[in-house]
Amino acid sequence: MQTMLGVIGGSGVYQIDGLEGASWVKARSPWGRPSDEVLVGRLNDLPIAFLPRHGRGHVHDPATVPYRANIDALKRLGCTDIVAVSAVGSLREDFAPGDFVIVDQYIDRSHHRPMSFFGHGCVAHVSLADPTCPRLGAACAAAARIEGLTVHTGATYLSMEGPQFSTRAESRMYRSWGADVIGMTGMSEARLAREAELCYASVAMVTDYDCWHETHGAVDVAQVIAVVRANADSARGLVAQLPGLLDLDRSPCPHGCDRALDHAIITAPDK
Ligand code: ADE
Repeated sequence: MQTMLGVIGGSGVYQIDGLEGASWVKARSPWGRPSDEVLVGRLNDLPIAFLPRHGRGHVHDPATVPYRANIDALKRLGCTDIVAVSAVGSLREDFAPGDFVIVDQYIDRSHHRPMSFFGHGCVAHVSLADPTCPRLGAACAAAARIEGLTVHTGATYLSMEGPQFSTRAESRMYRSWGADVIGMTGMSEARLAREAELCYASVAMVTDYDCWHETHGAVDVAQVIAVVRANADSARGLVAQLPGLLDLDRSPCPHGCDRALDHAIITAPDK
């Protein structure tokens, strides 16, 4: 099977450069309209589909991003893997603004999101013990290192509802829970990607220290956007390294992401 990479861009990353034969296409999904059209093209022979999570012009807030339509549209376009880029706050001293983090665990504190493609007469329970794909995550970490970025691996992402940032008490509590970074979108995508049997990796770009840090002020959008602007080229550079690190001819995922439903559907086949 041929690898096709889906890239979901977060705040400040609304397109990627250098795609050969690139065109924005209207993708369709029975789950509704995706956040935007999808930019489809090739990067060093690797087919790529890029979707800006919040839409060009940033029109969807974290709760109203059409997560199911987005993941489903990328799957229908033929994506086998998804790399999701997002801005996050840091909950640790040693993860500084400008650093990149390859997330591998989540704590979900979102409340108003569609959680599943299932539950409409067909019940499935996929495993989220390891919610991201280690193979794809390792490729993202390698890409970041080739680009000379500071990258941390093996991190836990606290997924909050938003759209407001956290209170100081929440921020301190999340640190005590062992969360490393905080954002508003990650877990919603990871759980749906697993149900869609897609390999999913999260590339988080640290933009701020949230509000727990004693010598940094509370976070605001201007700060987030300033850091994202300064680092958007690094994020695009990371993505540009991926074709050299992923096999064009895709072997089955050694971690089983592409077979997640094999033993997950509990509803009787004749129902
Ligand atoms: N995205 C970027 N910084 C954030 C923060 N501190 N909290 C939640 N989401 C964020």
